[in-house]
Amino acid sequence: MTIRKILTEPDPILRQKSQPVDKVDDEIRKLMDDMLETMYNAPGIGLAAIQVGVPKRIIVLDISKDPEKKEPMYFVNPEVVLTSKNDVTYEEGCLSVPGQFAEVDRPDSCIVKYLDYSGNYKELKAEGLLATCIQHEIDHLEGILFIDYLSKLKKSMIVKKLSKQKKELERIVV
Ligand code: NI
Repeated sequence: MTIRKILTEPDPILRQKSQPVDKVDDEIRKLMDDMLETMYNAPGIGLAAIQVGVPKRIIVLDISKDPEKKEPMYFVNPEVVLTSKNDVTYEEGCLSVPGQFAEVDRPDSCIVKYLDYSGNYKELKAEGLLATCIQHEIDHLEGILFIDYLSKLKKSMIVKKLSKQKKELERIVV
């Protein structure tokens, strides 16, 4: 497994719409293995393929709190088919928006259909944190980041801060 570079905002690739996967084969499984490794290393609890620069509709998640007991989840071509009317608020962050957090409202449960690691069709009813994470990651596949839900002012402040951080980082590359 290889740890891949995570793209950060502002990067136009993060705004690309990801394309469906035709077949879950070994190449796709290798990508999912790399994504999981990259996510654990970061560390984070969710990652979409576009965050490592691959515009395919794939997400990986592990919301288990115990680092000793890993519970990886793989979703290929995930699609939300139903959301609840009730919202829940979480303070969200994102590996592509490092160090920034903000409250986002999303439906508190959803039903998602997808293909699993073996390419089998699955349906899952997700609630609470899992529902929020799945919706956050599926947004990535549409080129949407959680900061897009914030006020214009708040979003531009965050993007400005990240642009400045990037420039400073580039300056020390020799
Ligand atoms: Ni994210």
